[in-house]
Amino acid sequence: MGTKGREIVKMDVEHLLLLLNKAYSDEWFAYYQYWLGAKVAKGPMKEGVMAELLQHAGDELRHADMVAQRIIQLGGSPVESPKQWYEMANCSYDPPSDPYVRVLLEQNIKGEQCAIQTYNALLAETKEGDPVTYNMVLQILQDEVMHEEDLQALLEDLDLMTSRG
Ligand SMILES: [Fe+2]
Ligand SMILES: [Fe+2]
Repeated sequence: MGTKGREIVKMDVEHLLLLLNKAYSDEWFAYYQYWLGAKVAKGPMKEGVMAELLQHAGDELRHADMVAQRIIQLGGSPVESPKQWYEMANCSYDPPSDPYVRVLLEQNIKGEQCAIQTYNALLAETKEGDPVTYNMVLQILQDEVMHEEDLQALLEDLDLMTSRG
């Protein structure tokens, strides 16, 4: 990052880099959980659920890209080994071991709720000290809020469908 770009960051950059690498690890887990879930899903409304999961997977990968770019701009390096994702992540990785659509939706809703909490905290942390990261975090947070809503709407439809035969 340029000298002036770095100068306007009024917070502890090492601390910020740690938080960003934690969020970066979450994004890869979220990406893979969605991606694999979309491959294995079984049950009612399978097509719709698969399409939604795949779309979210794409968004999470894009988030990983955004966060990695900001880490590099700030002079850091994105987590180098997937092994470290387990130590760094804020949110747990839930393998899609049970492919039933309802279970997948519930797991991913839990993941989105954790992501919303993480980015909301990061938003508060960067509000005063780093407007560029703040703006990026806000964009990602908006997506995660939409993801949660989309999944909950699908779950609601699924429940209506299964309860009425
Ligand atoms: Fe994300
Ligand atoms: Fe998401």
